[in-house]
Amino acid sequence: MIHQNLHLIDFARDSAHYILDRARAAIADRGMFRLSLAGGNTPREIYAALADVGRDLPWNKVQITFSDERCVAPHDKDSNFRMAQESLLTVAPIPGGNVFRIRGEIDPGVAAAEYEAKLAAVAARLGETRYVHDLLLLGLGPDGHTASLFPGSPALYEEERNVIPTIGPKPPPQRITFTFPLINAAREVAFLVKEDSKKKVIEEVQIGDPRHPASKVKPATWLLGF
Ligand code: 6PG
Repeated sequence: MIHQNLHLIDFARDSAHYILDRARAAIADRGMFRLSLAGGNTPREIYAALADVGRDLPWNKVQITFSDERCVAPHDKDSNFRMAQESLLTVAPIPGGNVFRIRGEIDPGVAAAEYEAKLAAVAARLGETRYVHDLLLLGLGPDGHTASLFPGSPALYEEERNVIPTIGPKPPPQRITFTFPLINAAREVAFLVKEDSKKKVIEEVQIGDPRHPASKVKPATWLLGF
């Protein structure tokens, strides 16, 4: 597969419909939809649109993970969980047990290990060697970072663990992130990028520019707002 660029007219609603289509297909095929939410600011309007257009989705068959989290409390303004909770998780009727929150408020090493075990338990039950997301959403930073995988970080070279603590230049610095083995185990990865200011870095990622961590993600779908 090569990268698939989708230039969307209505970024939020068209992205939401794309996610919804993938959800319906996964539920039809496998009885559940395992979705990983991206952090940052871009996804907020998409998640709100998803809650709106996805009213009749069987949310009890959706399992939510987070591709990264800042090491802050869940009610902190910088929490990716809080952003998802405000835009989607308090609107869509998704059972609390279906939402796998990364506990950013505790010791990062403990939180990462706890999350690793949570994903491993589901994977084992489903006969997977590594948890397989149906759709894994990611953002992209101007420096080519994605999730909390930043240029120059040793986290870029993790080959075994799925979830690790890390430090990044984008505040808040202490984070927990998915690793490339987990990201690339997904059936599909979709980047969400609204600003055309990121056009050049997208092109560089898509040709595999090694300066950019996002280049280590397998060929993906790009939901573009420009
Ligand atoms: C985070 C995100 C990060 C984000 C990009 C894009 O926790 O900060 O995981 O990877 O997706 O930095 O952020 P914006 O969507 O705010 O531009």
